Amino acid sequence: MHVRLKITKTEEKAVEAMKKFSNVIVRRPCRAMVEGITSGLYPGKPDYELALKQHDAYIEALKACGVQVMVLPADEAFPDSCFVEDPAVLTAKCAIITNPGAPSRTKETVSIEEAVRTFYPEERMEHIVTPGTLEGGDVMMCGDHFFVGRSERTNEEGIRQFAAILERYGYTCSEVKLEEVLHLKTGVNYLENNHMLVSGEFIEKEDFKTYDKYVIPEEEAYAANCIWVNDTVIVPEGYPAVLNAVKTMGYRTITVDTSEFRKLDGGLSCLSLRF
Ligand code: GLY
Repeated sequence: MHVRLKITKTEEKAVEAMKKFSNVIVRRPCRAMVEGITSGLYPGKPDYELALKQHDAYIEALKACGVQVMVLPADEAFPDSCFVEDPAVLTAKCAIITNPGAPSRTKETVSIEEAVRTFYPEERMEHIVTPGTLEGGDVMMCGDHFFVGRSERTNEEGIRQFAAILERYGYTCSEVKLEEVLHLKTGVNYLENNHMLVSGEFIEKEDFKTYDKYVIPEEEAYAANCIWVNDTVIVPEGYPAVLNAVKTMGYRTITVDTSEFRKLDGGLSCLSLRF
C-alpha cells in the first residue's frame, strides 16, 4: 500500500492560497467570569471548570483549521475578558483597538493592545477614542466591506471613527441598526463565498439582500454565531439544522460546545480574534 506522508509543493501552495487566517488570539476564561455581563436569555451561572474544558476544545478546533493560536492568560480583573473579539478589530492591513461601550470592559483594551502589537507595526495600529464606542462583536467583515452594528455598545461616533480609519486602508463600511440582539454577530455571520447565516431581525434587512442567506430557525438562533476559519466552519454543538445547512454549503465542520459562554451571551466568534 502506498501511503503519502507529505503533500507536494504545489498542493502546499494551494492550501496556503485557500487560507485566509494565519493567527488567532484567545484569552483563557477567568474565575470571575461567573460575574460576567448577561442578558439572562440563557439562564444560569457558568460552570468555570466546564468553561475551561470547552475553551480547550475551542483552541484545538482552531488549530485544526491551520492557524497559530496565541493563548493569553486569564485576567481576573475583567470577568468578560475571554471575549477577546470585542476590544479589537484585526484586518489584513491594520489593527483597530476599540473602545468597548460596556463600562466594565473598557480597560480590556490595554492588554489586548500589548498582544496585538506583536503582530502589527506601529504605523498600522489604530484606535477608537471617547466619545466614540465600538465593540468588535458589532463588526462583520465581508471581503473589503465591513458591516457595523449600531448597538447599545457601539455608537454613532464610534462608527464614524471606524469608517474613517477603514477608508484610509481602502476598505468600506456601512451601518446596520440593531434593535434586539447584543451585537451584530449575535444574529448574522458571513461564511465567505457569499454564504451568510441570518436570524431574527436580520432576515429581512436590505443590507444583506445580495448574499446567499440561510435563515436560521428561531429555536436555533444562537447558532447564527458560527465562524469560518480557512474553509472550515466551527458550529456550536447542539444545533442540528444549522450544522446540516453549513455542511450542505460544502464546508468541513467542527462542533464545539459553548454552553458556559452562552450563559454570558457569548458565542464562537466572541472567543477569538482571527487574522
Ligand atoms: N458577556 C459578554 C458581554 O456582554 O460583553
